[in-house]
Amino acid sequence: MTMAYVTEDNLTNVALERWKDIPDARLRKVMQSLIKHLHGFVRDIEPTQAEWSAAIDWLTSTGKLSSEKRQEFILASDVLGVSMLVDAINHRRPSRATPSTVEGPFHVDNAPPIANGGDMAQGAPGVPCFITGTVKGLDGEPVAGAVLDLWQTDGEGLYEAQRHVGGPWMRGIYRTQDDGSYLIRTVAPVAYSIPMDGTVGELMERTNISHMRPAHIHFAISAPGYQDCITHLFRNGDAFIETDVVYGVKEPLIVDFVERPPGKAQTGEVLATSFYEIKYDFVLQGAVQALTAAE
Ligand code: BEZ
Ligand code: FE
Repeated sequence: MTMAYVTEDNLTNVALERWKDIPDARLRKVMQSLIKHLHGFVRDIEPTQAEWSAAIDWLTSTGKLSSEKRQEFILASDVLGVSMLVDAINHRRPSRATPSTVEGPFHVDNAPPIANGGDMAQGAPGVPCFITGTVKGLDGEPVAGAVLDLWQTDGEGLYEAQRHVGGPWMRGIYRTQDDGSYLIRTVAPVAYSIPMDGTVGELMERTNISHMRPAHIHFAISAPGYQDCITHLFRNGDAFIETDVVYGVKEPLIVDFVERPPGKAQTGEVLATSFYEIKYDFVLQGAVQALTAAE
């Protein structure tokens, strides 16, 4: 076969041909698609040499900002909707099961265990908030002993990593009771901005797109025999519920924060200020059901 020297017109086909026989089938599929789409993108925008250099500089700075403590590339993937797309592809569930959403960067392993009804806020600022409900399977069976690993901002919009506190802050691990029920005491989270001091922030500042996430509480739920569920509960009526910068909001995850006057809460505690109540029943997909769905 004669060697095909490149022209603007044939370059994509020449590159696809070069990468077409690599032995690893998955890598071959990925690279063929990457070349096709990347060349398509470049042909579409026709970058100047200066624009191409600026793009390389942006990627280089994004890499330099990323470490074990901070992942600017994931944030870039988040704001472009890619993280939620990967999450959706990997968590196709029946509509009755609680949907997943992005984990985000603020989860910390080994949260403190908290008894049913115990306080996760431990004096953190914010309006007291009580969350009750159940964890059930798709057939309605209660899931006893399910682990609910929670993390959220305090009432000033800050996570533990942003507080520089010595001990755990606004996170805890609860377990469901024999009837699958749970009771959590916390403070209401508030809307917050994604980190804007890096390359993603620099990009967002050049747009008219909101960089806010609506108020939410993160949950990672696990139980033997069931598929893990990493999700959030979002506050109904939040100003940013329709414009979440990371596209995390799904309709079944929006809950009412019902305001109650001062008085007795579900834990028996008597509050001198008003507080919120949230009710939510999580539905987990069985591990076997997950396998069947993926087949
Ligand atoms: C979060 O939910 O904590 C989060 C998710 C994606 C980017 C930034 C924050
Ligand atoms: Fe969050």
